[in-house]
Amino acid sequence: SLVWAILLLGVAFALGDGGYNINILDPATSNNREVSKLLWWVMGFAAVIFVVVIGAMTYIVLKFKKRGNEVGEPPQFHGNDRLEITWTLIPFLIVCVIFGLTARGMFEISQVPPDAMPVKVTAHLFWWDFEYPEQGIRTSNELILPVNRPVNFEITSNEAGPAKPVIHSFRVASLAGTQDAIPGIVTTRWFKPEKEGVYYGQCAELCGASHSNMRFRVIVVSQAEFDRFVQGAKAFQPPAPTDAAVAKGQQLFNAQCTACHAINNTQHQSKIGPDLTFFGNRLTLGAGIWNNTPERLEAWIKNSPGMKPGSLMPPFPQLSAEDARSIAAYLESLKVEGLDFSKLPKF
Ligand code: CUA
Repeated sequence: SLVWAILLLGVAFALGDGGYNINILDPATSNNREVSKLLWWVMGFAAVIFVVVIGAMTYIVLKFKKRGNEVGEPPQFHGNDRLEITWTLIPFLIVCVIFGLTARGMFEISQVPPDAMPVKVTAHLFWWDFEYPEQGIRTSNELILPVNRPVNFEITSNEAGPAKPVIHSFRVASLAGTQDAIPGIVTTRWFKPEKEGVYYGQCAELCGASHSNMRFRVIVVSQAEFDRFVQGAKAFQPPAPTDAAVAKGQQLFNAQCTACHAINNTQHQSKIGPDLTFFGNRLTLGAGIWNNTPERLEAWIKNSPGMKPGSLMPPFPQLSAEDARSIAAYLESLKVEGLDFSKLPKF
């Protein structure tokens, strides 16, 4: 079992993705600290058991091996009460200790701090929607949070829409374990991020063709930066087009895209697809699978299911390359000024 544990740890360490340091042994929340502490306890017991068992085996094999011209069976012994009680009692005590530590950890993790900021998480096929009821704002696929403030997530899965509702799972490895997103049910999980940075999130429940492409980012910033973001998002206005392409893009977007996509402080408030209010500040597109560049965005607008199997955004083969480029230019212009998340460390 130790060999397996080491192999699994190796896999966990190797899972760096695009410079992300996804590592449950370098916890950035008190909850993950509890979990990694527990892991070390279990690993410690496993290591001791490994050494004792392999040591005893080696000793017995060497000491009692057949020597010279010995013949026949060695003397046979049956039953040893003291030995049997010892080897039953020790594992029982170990299990009791691990049970106690686990129960304590579970209790710690389940206590939601009273000052936790609520965030509503809705899992869709195949993207994530985040609402901040206290601040009255919404984001999609990239969740911005203030450092050192506990956050309580109310997690569910979208029941509306053309596809059958399915179970997803909210997981940000460096911040918290998994929490299922279940249609018609609200589950909760809380954590307090302690380090500024960009954290890699991933759907952790097989949900369909693009389960592995259902990613997100949690961007943890200082309180001042967070306040700037909230102000900017609330008061957001699509900037006046700087050139003809952006103006054309705005026109096309308003005509074609707003059946599903919303932008703050405009008449377009559909919640069918991801919110695009400050799309220009996003690091990624397609729910965390591509870097947000105008070229990728243009390709995405023309044929999103080609870039992400099962994407519910229809392809637009009739859209000219120029028009797709205009829409991309308009979306990239949607920015809360002064925010840049690209320099933050990645976890
Ligand atoms: Cu959603 Cu897997």
